[in-house]
Amino acid sequence: MLGDEPTGQWMQNSAEDNPRFLASTIETFLGWRSEQPATSYAEAQPLTLDRGRYVFRTRCLGCHTIGKGDVVGPDLAGVTARRDSAWLARYLAEPDRVLAAGDPIAAALFAKYHQIPMPNLKLDSEDVAALLSYLEAQSS
Ligand code: HEC
Repeated sequence: MLGDEPTGQWMQNSAEDNPRFLASTIETFLGWRSEQPATSYAEAQPLTLDRGRYVFRTRCLGCHTIGKGDVVGPDLAGVTARRDSAWLARYLAEPDRVLAAGDPIAAALFAKYHQIPMPNLKLDSEDVAALLSYLEAQSS
């Protein structure tokens, strides 16, 4: 339902009508018809999403910051310089197994951070690689 309050005119169509028909009806009703041809969607810029940033913001931000101090887990600023890269990649992929295997770094972190374990977030290797470059870029 569409209304033009100043003129008191209303129109109603089914939401299941042909979208082209709806668009042109609405355009005409509201006086939006423009003489200029609109830009085609084919000319839209491709959307560039940084996967590392996306994964960090959706999966990690609740427990970690980068440079704003410890929260539930440690501040991750500089973590790519502080840890061996193979260790870090394995830890991100399966922190529970690294801890269970008696890894001394994982055990020390677990003790320091109130015995709240870093969860296994089932990240795949692309997520881990994207996170490592994101953490590195954010730290520098
Ligand atoms: C539920 C909270 C939580 C979430 C979510 C979480 N972590 Fe953690 N993380 C921790 C805790 C707590 C530790 C400290 C180790 C421990 O207690 O087992 C930790 C440790 C780490 C470490 C080791 C830091 C160091 O100094 O070596 C890294 C790296 C890390 N997390 C990265 C991540 C990333 C990346 C994500 C998102 C994909 C993430 N964490 C999600 C809680 C969390």
